[in-house]
Amino acid sequence: MAAIRSIVSGTGSYLPEKILTNKNMEEMVDTSDEWIIERTGIKQRHIAADDQVTSDLAVNAANNALDAAGMTADDIDLIVVATSSADQTFPSTATTVQRKLGITRGAAFDVQAVCSGFVYALTTADNFIKAGQAQNVLVIGAEIFSRLLDWEDRTTCVLFGDGAGAVVLSAKEGEGNNDDQGILASRIHSDGRYNEMLYVDGGVASTGTIGHLRMRGREVFRHAVKNLASVVGEVLGDTEMTSDDVDWIVPHQANKRILDGTARKLKIAPEKVVVTVDKHANTSAASIPLALDIAVRDGRITRGDVLILEAMGGGFTWGACLLRW
Ligand code: UT7
Repeated sequence: MAAIRSIVSGTGSYLPEKILTNKNMEEMVDTSDEWIIERTGIKQRHIAADDQVTSDLAVNAANNALDAAGMTADDIDLIVVATSSADQTFPSTATTVQRKLGITRGAAFDVQAVCSGFVYALTTADNFIKAGQAQNVLVIGAEIFSRLLDWEDRTTCVLFGDGAGAVVLSAKEGEGNNDDQGILASRIHSDGRYNEMLYVDGGVASTGTIGHLRMRGREVFRHAVKNLASVVGEVLGDTEMTSDDVDWIVPHQANKRILDGTARKLKIAPEKVVVTVDKHANTSAASIPLALDIAVRDGRITRGDVLILEAMGGGFTWGACLLRW
């Protein structure tokens, strides 16, 4: 039976110029290149310039995605920005992106699901497309986490970086089966009982300050592998596929050990996992679209491939999308 599918018609990304290596971090806190690489796989991270705001990163990524899709801003009727480091408390970063792209029609809003933000945003955009309410959606993950970090806390400041990634998601008619191009299944979850495992200790209605990121890393790690393997199992089950059908996992990039542990649990070969955490560190909602754009542009991901995008983050929130490229 014919079905409307959401296909990715273009990808783009943007990384700020400035790079902080682990050696640079050694000069800032009591850490070592060896510890960071062994525990996380991270070698460096990009840091936004003082005069850049999150929407600037988002617009650069969005323009690259529009070019790749062969579209202009006029083709876009919805913008969804996943971010936890908005330019301002309000308006949404998405409406600022809309203004900077010169778009005056449609709608724009932010999605806040921390590191799972891109999977939440993609799922939301997919539902707008399937409902017939949007044709071409800019789905963006953009973060300047460097401004949320306590640069004296070695347990968190070495882990994160800044960046943005974007896709243009477009409506296309399919047959309603697994051979269709586009998103074939998506699942999102949250469990607010775990708020205090990963949070920012400030906010408009609590302290009136921006606050700093706080994390109980070991507990987050433990939940991450379990929840990610479980939600990937759900999208495979929804499509009656198995891990053998998967060509690429494009995971949220928090820690190389989480990527390895999840792939092992799912019995997916490590060569099928797109890894960027070494170069980008954890860019929260930006990490999946950044990794996706890199693997598309270097030719690894090709038409017809089955991809799984998966993420877990503060809230806790977690989710996965299964799509055919
Ligand atoms: O994106 C959202 C999801 N976020 C995540 O998924 C992050 C999940 N968590 C992790 O990736 C890991 O738990 C971390 C990388 C944060 C930490 O690795 P770990 O192997 O769980 O280390 P740990 O927290 O158990 O700490 C081990 C030791 C501690 O010292 P003691 O107490 O054993 O003496 C820490 O104080 O390592 C110490 N430590 C450091 N040492 C050098 C913590 N941070 C550092 C550091 N440099 N930067």
